[in-house]
Amino acid sequence: MKERETFASRLGFVLISAGCAIGLGNVWRFPYIVGQYGGAAFVLIYLVFLVAMGLPIMAMEFAVGRASRKSIIVSFQELEPKGTKWHWYGWFGMAGNYLLMMFYTTIAGWLLMYFFKIAAGQFEGLDKSGVEQSFGTMVSQPGIQLLFMAIVVVLGMVICSRGLRNGVEKANKFMMLCLLCLLVILAIRAITLPGAIKGLEFYLVPNFDNLMYDANGNFRLGEAIYAAMGQAFFTLSLGIGAMAIFGSYIGKDRRLFGETISVGILDTCVAFVSGLIIFPSAFAFGVNPDAGSNLIFITLPNVFNAMPGGRLWGALFFVFLFFAALSTITAVFENILACWMDKWGVSRGKAVAINLVLIFLLSLPCLLGNNIWSGIKILGMGVMDFEDFLVSNNLLPLGSVIYLLFCCLSKKIAWGFDGFLAEADQGKGVRFPAKLRMYFTVVVPIIVLIIFVMGYIEKFA
Ligand code: PHE
Repeated sequence: MKERETFASRLGFVLISAGCAIGLGNVWRFPYIVGQYGGAAFVLIYLVFLVAMGLPIMAMEFAVGRASRKSIIVSFQELEPKGTKWHWYGWFGMAGNYLLMMFYTTIAGWLLMYFFKIAAGQFEGLDKSGVEQSFGTMVSQPGIQLLFMAIVVVLGMVICSRGLRNGVEKANKFMMLCLLCLLVILAIRAITLPGAIKGLEFYLVPNFDNLMYDANGNFRLGEAIYAAMGQAFFTLSLGIGAMAIFGSYIGKDRRLFGETISVGILDTCVAFVSGLIIFPSAFAFGVNPDAGSNLIFITLPNVFNAMPGGRLWGALFFVFLFFAALSTITAVFENILACWMDKWGVSRGKAVAINLVLIFLLSLPCLLGNNIWSGIKILGMGVMDFEDFLVSNNLLPLGSVIYLLFCCLSKKIAWGFDGFLAEADQGKGVRFPAKLRMYFTVVVPIIVLIIFVMGYIEKFA
C-alpha cells in the first residue's frame, strides 16, 4: 500500500490545524453571536467551554486521527473493539462536513464579493444605511452570488487536488500570517474611533443582565449557554473529524495536548481581536451589535470609510479573511476527499470531480434561502441559520461527546483511555491531564446533555 502523506514540518501542522480552526467562526460568527447574547459575560462563558471542554476534546480528535491514520468514516473502525458500533458515527460526521460547507461556501463568496466591491470603491462615501442597503442588494441577487460561490468551491477543490503538501499546507501558511498582522492594525483603528469606548465596554466588561435577558426582557440564560457551547465547538472545528484528519497526517514526535494548546491560543487570539474590531466600530457607527449574521458586513465598510487609504485596507482585509475561510474550506474538503479515498478507494482526482459538483449543488439551498426562497422557515429559522444550527448546536457538541467517550470509556466497549493516553502522550511536549479522566468521562457528557436539553427547551418553547 502507498504510504500516507505527512506534513513537511511541525509548524506546518500547527498552522494548518489553526487554519482549519480559524475561519468564519472567528471573524464572522464569533462577533455576531457575542453581539446577540449581550457581550462580555457571554465571552466569559465561551472561554470556559473552550478550555474545559474544547481543548481536551481536540487532543482526543488528533489522537484518533493519528492512531488510526484514517479519516472519520474509517477511523473508528480501525480502533473500536470488535462488534461495537462506534463507526456508525462516521456517517453523521461526514454529513456534518457537508452540512457545514452548505452555508460556508456562500458566506465565503460574500467575502470575495466584498473584496471586489471595496477595491472598486463602491462603499466610498456611503453612510451606515447606505452600507446596509448595499449589503441587502447583494444578497437579494442569486446570480452573482452563485458565481462567487462556484469560484469558492472550485478554488477549494483545486487546492485539494494538488495534494496535501503542495496545495493545502503551502497555501495556508502564508495566508494565516497575513491575516494576523492585518487584524491587529484594524483593531487599533477601530479602538481609536470616536465613540469606540462604549463598544469596548460591551465587549469586555461583563453585564450578566445582558446575557440573561434578550432585548425584549425575556429570560434566555439556557439558550445563551447553549450558544456559547456551540460557538466553542464551532471555532475549534470539533466533533466531525475535521481535526482528526490532520492528526492522521502527523508523525509521533510531539505530544498532542501541547499542539492542541498552540492551536487553541492562535484561534482564540484571532477571535478576540475580531471582537476588538467589530464592537468598537459597531458602537461608533450606530450599528446594533444584535444585528445577526450580517453584522461584519454592515459594520466593517464604515470602518474602512473612516480610515485614510480605507479602500486599500478594506480590500486587503477581505482578501485575507477570504483566505482564512478558504483554509477552513480546504481543510474540510480534504476531510471529505479523504473519506472517499479511504472508504471507497477512489483516486484523489475522481473524489475531487465528484465532490466539486456535489458541494456546489448542496450549497444552493442556503444561497437561494436569502432571496428566492426567503419565505422558507424551518423551526422558525431561515435556511442558512437552520443549517448552521444543525451543525453548530447539534452535530458538533454531540460528535464531540462521541469522540470523548470513545477515548475515555474502558477498552472493552471503546478505544479506551489507555490506548488514547499512550497515543496522545507519545513524543515530546505537554502531557494530557490524565488525572481528569473521571471529569471527562462522566461530568463533561452530562453537562453537554443538560445544556442541550435546556437550550432546546428555551429555544423552542
Ligand atoms: N472552525 C471553523 C471556523 O471557525 C469552522 C469549522 C467547524 C470547521 C467544524 C470544521 C469543523 O470557521
